[in-house]
Amino acid sequence: MRWNILKVLRESGDYVSGQVLSKELGISRVSIWKHIRNLKEDGYVIEASARGYHLVSSPDLLLPGEFHSWEQKIHHFWEASSTMNVAKELAKRGTEEETIVIAESQTHGRGRLGRDWLSPMGGIYITLILRPKISPIYAPRINLMASVAVAKAIRKFFGLKAELKWPNDVLIEGKKVCGILAEMEAETDVVNFVNVGIGINVNNPIFPYAKMATSLKEELGKEVSRKEFLNSVLKEINEQQVLLTKGDLLEEWKSLSATLNKDVRIVAPGEEIIGRAIDIDASGALILRSQDGSLRSAIAGDCIHLS
Ligand code: BTN
Repeated sequence: MRWNILKVLRESGDYVSGQVLSKELGISRVSIWKHIRNLKEDGYVIEASARGYHLVSSPDLLLPGEFHSWEQKIHHFWEASSTMNVAKELAKRGTEEETIVIAESQTHGRGRLGRDWLSPMGGIYITLILRPKISPIYAPRINLMASVAVAKAIRKFFGLKAELKWPNDVLIEGKKVCGILAEMEAETDVVNFVNVGIGINVNNPIFPYAKMATSLKEELGKEVSRKEFLNSVLKEINEQQVLLTKGDLLEEWKSLSATLNKDVRIVAPGEEIIGRAIDIDASGALILRSQDGSLRSAIAGDCIHLS
């Protein structure tokens, strides 16, 4: 209901009386007043006068009311251990597809290969729960899909040249701005759920030792609106999801790739492959040509650009 009130105030752009709100939304004026108080506590500046309520400004928080078509599917936390943990619980309990868990900060953010993902306020930390009707072997395509969506949103929204590093990092000028972590539960040929975690450095501080990392604030020299940017990321995800089962997704990934045609070293548990990255296959594996001319494929691991 809180978000319905916000919507009416936003659309009006002027004062709306308690009476009109109460009539339009079918709740008492006391309830309206209570919801307004909650909105104010969240950081919305709402003036109240004899003419009614007027929305003066909204905070740059990732609250459900800021994401119109997704509003009902968002679980928002001021602080979570990791949105991956919350999403796993929800997915196991059968929550509907495209539920999104959003945290303003995380105390135990998780990265790929067991690493930590530092998650102070100012960044974007979300996990999207998907139930794609694809074979588990094609599940890595979901990571490709998410990285394509973020890179395209950065390009369109900020005009920055975002590129992709295999398997699914988003880079600006060679520095990492976004990481993606997917967790799947599947049976032999059915995916129950894939949870796609997306961490984007936006206005959050970049820790001095993270030399190869950057943030949107760092690149643009100013703070940016996280909620507007996340809206554009979600829009891209909607568009890219349609391509999940089509070859076009791979073409999109290739056109944004900073890895293809480079000499790379892939470091995977118990294995290291060095070669020229020449392609990715339908399951998202990287195809490399080794120095002896043989073809190798890497399905997971860290990728270091050598040239
Ligand atoms: C990587 O190592 O590059 C992947 C980082 C993924 C971080 C995101 S932030 C939202 C979600 N919750 C987590 O704990 N991790 C992912």
